[in-house]
Amino acid sequence: MPLVTTRQLLDEAAKGGYGVGAFNVNDMEQIQAIMEAAKETNSPVIIQASRGARQFAQDNYLYHLMLAAAELYPQIPLAMHLDHGNSFETCESAIKLGFTSVMMDGSLKADGKTPATFEENVEVTKKVVDYAHERGISVEGEIGVLGGIEDGHGAGGSGLDHVTDPDQAVEFAERTGVDSLAIAIGTSHGAYKFTKKPDGSVLKMDLLIAIHKRLPSTHLVMHGSSSVPKDLQDIINQYGGKLKETWGVPVEEIQLGIKNGVRKVNVDTDNRLAITGAIRKVFVETPEKFDPRDYLKPARAAMQKVVAQRMTQFGQAGHASDYTAISIADMAKGYADGTLVTKPLVAAK
Ligand code: 13P
Repeated sequence: MPLVTTRQLLDEAAKGGYGVGAFNVNDMEQIQAIMEAAKETNSPVIIQASRGARQFAQDNYLYHLMLAAAELYPQIPLAMHLDHGNSFETCESAIKLGFTSVMMDGSLKADGKTPATFEENVEVTKKVVDYAHERGISVEGEIGVLGGIEDGHGAGGSGLDHVTDPDQAVEFAERTGVDSLAIAIGTSHGAYKFTKKPDGSVLKMDLLIAIHKRLPSTHLVMHGSSSVPKDLQDIINQYGGKLKETWGVPVEEIQLGIKNGVRKVNVDTDNRLAITGAIRKVFVETPEKFDPRDYLKPARAAMQKVVAQRMTQFGQAGHASDYTAISIADMAKGYADGTLVTKPLVAAK
């Protein structure tokens, strides 16, 4: 299947009542792990690259690896998404390259660190939406600010510093016409999210439910959704790592989110943990080995296992063959003639 847009994947997910994992990549082995997991579970999938990943891998390598993935797995609907675009120019360059969806994270200024005002966020996001929709490309916006730092992007601090205000979420969705909306409900990027198993005081699922009630047709996005499983932490520490005890977002909470409008679930850290644990194990158990394939193969397999598990838990498993690709040109027509709705349904308070 050619690369499809995230909008199409999320519209289908909403119809089917499931969520779609969006997995971050920097290199070929990670893309291979995700595609094998998608094949194994027959899942549609979103592969995303941050600005850091684009710098690390270089745009052309990333894009052509994604084309290879689409070619090798014609049965899998696959979207290529820019994670945390910091400016109009970053989104524009991703769209010119061939990304099928972009995130304009206008919750922060272009430095990717300083919280922006609401008006600044609306202005830059709307500019990206106009540019992207004319070209058939979908856009994710963010309202509220996530905690932590993802690949150098983020305000740092706790996920509770700038949680999303439901009234602002409504106004933002109405004024920008985004295809999906990332909200801040206490999660943060990275491994160190919570100091104990999170409860409602730090992971605001009630807020997510309140936002979904006000915006019942808007595809919500949960960032910072790694579960940071103890077994993956243990493998790293067993083989010489020094991770401090930490908790992520329990899968049951993500599943509750999916029942309440979450359609895209961002996962990066869990895969990083799986890869690092597998590589450490090879280094410690067989220090005589030096062929990179000896540790990259188990690393890739460990990531595939985590991704396949998440695909099953998020409900996207089994849904790869539900639909055929809508071309980017037809998406552009749909935005232009209004068949692809961008005005959100808004419920009264
Ligand atoms: P994690 O660090 O929880 O995997 O979150 C990744 C993410 O939200 C990417 O945007």
